Order: sequence, then C-alpha cells, then structure tokens
Amino acid sequence: MSRKRQPAEPYRIKSIEQIKLLSRDQRLKRIREAKFNTFKLDASDVYIDLLTDSGTTAMSNKQWAAIMMGDESYAGSDSFKRFKKTVNEIFCKKFLIPCHQGRAAENLLFSVLVSEGSYVLNNTHFDTTRANTLLKKALAVDFPSPESFTNQDYRFKGNMDNQRLESFISEKGAEKISLVITTVTNNSVGGQPVSMSNIKETSAICKKYNIPFYFDCARFAENCYFIKTEEPGYEDMSIISIANEMFDLCDGVMMSAKKDGLVNTGGFITLDDEKLYQRLTELLIVIEGFSTYGGLAGRDIDALAVGLTEVIDFDYLDFRIDQIRYFGELMKESGMPIVEPIGGHAVFVDAGQLLPHIPDHQFPGQALAVALYVEGGVRTVELGSLMFGGTDPNTGQKFTARRELVRLALPRRVYTNSHIQYIAETAKTIFDQKEKLTGFEIKKQSAFLRHFTCELGILSKKEAATTV
Ligand SMILES: Cc1ncc(COP(=O)(O)O)c(C=O)c1O
Repeated sequence: MSRKRQPAEPYRIKSIEQIKLLSRDQRLKRIREAKFNTFKLDASDVYIDLLTDSGTTAMSNKQWAAIMMGDESYAGSDSFKRFKKTVNEIFCKKFLIPCHQGRAAENLLFSVLVSEGSYVLNNTHFDTTRANTLLKKALAVDFPSPESFTNQDYRFKGNMDNQRLESFISEKGAEKISLVITTVTNNSVGGQPVSMSNIKETSAICKKYNIPFYFDCARFAENCYFIKTEEPGYEDMSIISIANEMFDLCDGVMMSAKKDGLVNTGGFITLDDEKLYQRLTELLIVIEGFSTYGGLAGRDIDALAVGLTEVIDFDYLDFRIDQIRYFGELMKESGMPIVEPIGGHAVFVDAGQLLPHIPDHQFPGQALAVALYVEGGVRTVELGSLMFGGTDPNTGQKFTARRELVRLALPRRVYTNSHIQYIAETAKTIFDQKEKLTGFEIKKQSAFLRHFTCELGILSKKEAATTV
C-alpha cells in the first residue's frame, strides 16, 4: 500500500489532539445505538472522521494569532475591515454580507431573490441549497454535464450542461427563473471541478436572458487549482488572478467559508448590486446580526480573513489536491471502485458498483458507510438514495438517486498520510468480504434533509431478498 508516491506536507505539527480507536465490539454497539446513522455517532467514538470537510479544518499559527486581534465591537469593527479587504481582493465585489455559515447565506439570498413557483438552476444543488429553494416554494433543477455520470476520463466533470440549461430557460421563459448558480467544485457529483470556459458560457447565457448568475463557491480555491493545472491557457496565471477572472463573470457569490475559508465557522455573500445589498442587510439584521458581524465573532472574522489568504497559496493547494489523489489511488488499490478522475476534497466510492447485490432502495452506500465504521472506526457519509432519494410530493412516487456514492471527505490539514494508509487498509478488509454486507430500511425520517436524523434498521439476508 505504501508503494505509491506520498505527497509531502507543506507544514509541521505544533499541537495535537488525541483520538481513540474503540474495539470492534464497542463500535458495533455504538452504531446500533446510533440507529445505523453515522451522523448520530458521538465524535469521541470515531477514530478517523471523514464525515465532512466542512468546519473541520486545522487552523494555522497565523490564524490563531489573528484570533487574538479580533475586534468584538458590535458595529464597524477593525476585524470586518480586514475581512472586507481580503474578500474584495479575491472576489472583486463592492458589498459584503457576513453570515454564520453557508446555509444562512442561501436562506438570506433566496428570501429576496427566489419567488414562489419559480426555478433555481444549478450545475448540481448541494442538499442545503436544494432545501432552501424548496423552503421558498420554488423548484431546484440540476444541469450536470453529461460526462459527470460516465466513467469517461474527463477532467471537468463538475461542469454545467449549458445546452440543456439554455433550452430549459427558453422553454419555461426567463421570467420563471429566479437564479442560476454554479457550484464550485461540484460537491454532489464527486467534488468535480468546473472549467473557466464552462463558467464563461453559463455567464453569457445568464446575461442574454437577464437572469442573476451566482456562485456557490465553498471550494473555489480547489476549483481554481484545477483550472490552473488542467485547463489550457491558465498554467501561468496565479490562483488569485484565476479567482478574479472567475468572479468577474458573476453577479454575486455565496460562500460557506467552512471549507476553503480554512475556518471552523463562517460564510458570506458578496455582490455589486447596491439595492439588493440593502434589502439583504435589512434581513441580515433580523436573522443573523448587524451588517459588520452577521452572526460571527470578530475573532472568527479575523481567522477567516487570514484563511482566505492561505487557501490561495499554490503550495497549500498543490499538497491538498495531491493528498486526495494519493488517498484515491490507495482506495483503488484496496479494490474500491471510485469516482474518477479524483475530485478536490474527497474520495467518492461507488457503492452501487461495489455492492450490486444490494438494490438502491436498500441503500448500498449506507451499508458501506456502516462497514467502514465497524471495521475501522472511520466515519463517512452516504451520498446516494438515502440523501437524495425520497417521495415525490406531487405524485407520491418513490425515487432513488442517480448514483449510490459514499463520500470520504478529507478535512484540511488534519490527517497525515499514515492515517490515509490506515483507511485504505480498512477498505481492503471490507472489500475482501463485501458479499456479506446487507441493506437497510428507514424506520423513521423527517420531511427535509432526512439523512441527518433518520433511523435505520438492518435487513437480514432473508429480509433483503423479500423486499426486492
Ligand atoms: C457546495 C456547498 N454549498 C453549501 C453548503 C452549506 O454550507 P454550510 O454547511 O456552511 O451551511 C455546503 C456544505 O457542505 C456545500 O458543500
């Protein structure tokens, strides 16, 4: 397993946090108590936590130092001024609205821009973006590129299908479309990047039909790295100039800073439209806080300002993407079918392909996520029919996801290469006895985002056969 080239970390460890590996029997007991839902496990019962790359970043010494400079004034703080300057340098927009995290930014923006009965179009909505659209009684429609669901070795699988996007707009009428969003990188199709040429086309379509064009840019720096290293014409440009070019093409940006902000909490909207900024600020004050802190402490804002400068450092990004590649290669070596090419923040295992004996409605992804915990104390998340399936509210028909994936998201600057080797060894143990895994059924679920809280029951081999 260790024959593959190991990426070299561009940092060393200054402070450590203890983690504990429970015995297999203890892990089995814990996952049963958690009703087979990895979100319901206690973090202290997890050895390696790959549930998300969101808010799990290790901060740098410079960020911790910046925390001490936090200005906690209610209004007009120096922290906000520093934050605004950094955001402006990268995103090049006039106005900045801080929020406590990405979904608050979505809720705010959609409260003003999204009208009932309209459509929000996206290369692929992330689950909170979809839920916020539905909350406004609008419809969320995805336009992933045709390559995203194939095994084709295409680098920009996160792209928007601009042809289908334009046909949809002309068919429904531009006045029915509240907003077009490009999500970078495209989390829900495997953390795949979007090319600059694709963004330019989307931007031109939105201009032609006079529709607001926004980015959901939680992982913008990782996306810029892919553009620099894989898209012809960008190899000699710096990450910040690529970001400037990209954001110049949109009307505004919403960001969950818990990813490429390199912080544990935070988010924002940045935009040029003054009238919209004023409306959003009025609402911000009601639901998040005053316009210069928006639900964040001054110290959080300072850590974020520093994080945004660190994330666009080429050496940081080069290691980050290389470590994910290393992880993916080891997983492949263990026998796991993964989404390729490997994306920016996670390795996605195709559980549908790994476990063909478990039908989609019995959640093969969840079977793998549970096995990773039981075998190695590794926590992951299903991105398949448990997360994206459900019942159509209009027809009452049950639907499943397009693919049954499990996401192994790598927190930034947290795990070493030897942790990654351990995860691949755990995967190998599972691969060698994959036929033994069985599916699950939902015992209890909520109306929205059911995967966070649902309770599951394991199906015995016999039950699984009778419910097919
Ligand atoms: C693409 C994308 N958009 C939005 C969000 C929501 O952000 P937050 O968790 O900060 O609310 C996430 C979170 O993972 C995401 O990946």
